[in-house]
Amino acid sequence: MSVMDEINVKGLVCLEAGTGAGNTTLWLAKKGAKLVYSISNNQEHLDYAFKRLSKKYIKNVKFIKADLQKLDFLEEETIDLITAHMLINVVTPVDLFLIFKELTRIAKNKALIVVNDYNPLSSYQTERSHLVEELFRIENAVSYLANGEPILVWYPSEYTAGLLELLEWKVETIELLYDKTPWEKELLKEHLEVIEEECKKINNENLAENLLHQAIEILNQVGESETIYAGTIYSLIAKRKK
Ligand SMILES: C[S@@+](CC[C@H](N)C(=O)[O-])C[C@H]1O[C@@H](n2cnc3c(N)ncnc32)[C@H](O)[C@@H]1O
Repeated sequence: MSVMDEINVKGLVCLEAGTGAGNTTLWLAKKGAKLVYSISNNQEHLDYAFKRLSKKYIKNVKFIKADLQKLDFLEEETIDLITAHMLINVVTPVDLFLIFKELTRIAKNKALIVVNDYNPLSSYQTERSHLVEELFRIENAVSYLANGEPILVWYPSEYTAGLLELLEWKVETIELLYDKTPWEKELLKEHLEVIEEECKKINNENLAENLLHQAIEILNQVGESETIYAGTIYSLIAKRKK
């Protein structure tokens, strides 16, 4: 949260785009946000984040199940601060445009948006980085085969900045939160579980088995206590200008 630490959240109406585990929602509430709309399309995530929220902030947070492309319950120009912490890597390019468009509609003039996310894995490389890249390539391949969409997209900070500028935001800062992103085996195992689940949906059994086998082989090459570094994580802050 280092870059966001500089933003005075006290008294602001905020919107956390993509609740996930609720880390940013909890942070915004603790920092004194007047109201946080915490939005996810996944009810389990909302329930989990709700359980983690200290009861003293209960009146300051509204957990809402909705698609970020369509926030009809919010009027134009109602939000002071929008946060999207690790959201956009799970969103396809068309969806990302539509989400940013909707977030622009509800943002007040001079509102801030903070986007924290991954640069492409090639933005930081070691001789072991290729293992992470290969695993994610398989994860995207099985997702394409199962659902017709990638599951992970790495948008370079320049791409995110360009999209926001197109929608009339002025990019104020782009900084690195992590100059090398650590991938521990435990985290990579979670991605293997996703691959396993997606493989069940693929009609071609041989292909699914082959892809799963390749993913397991990659994981087998990672030591139990090894951390592989690949990519960087950026924090981009932009201001709405009308
Ligand atoms: C990786 S999590 C974000 C982590 C979270 N921001 C945090 O700080 O802990 C991504 C979240 O975005 C949600 N999401 C993805 N696409 C969405 C969409 N179109 N509308 C609403 N939520 C979406 C997912 O369901 C998930 O809850």
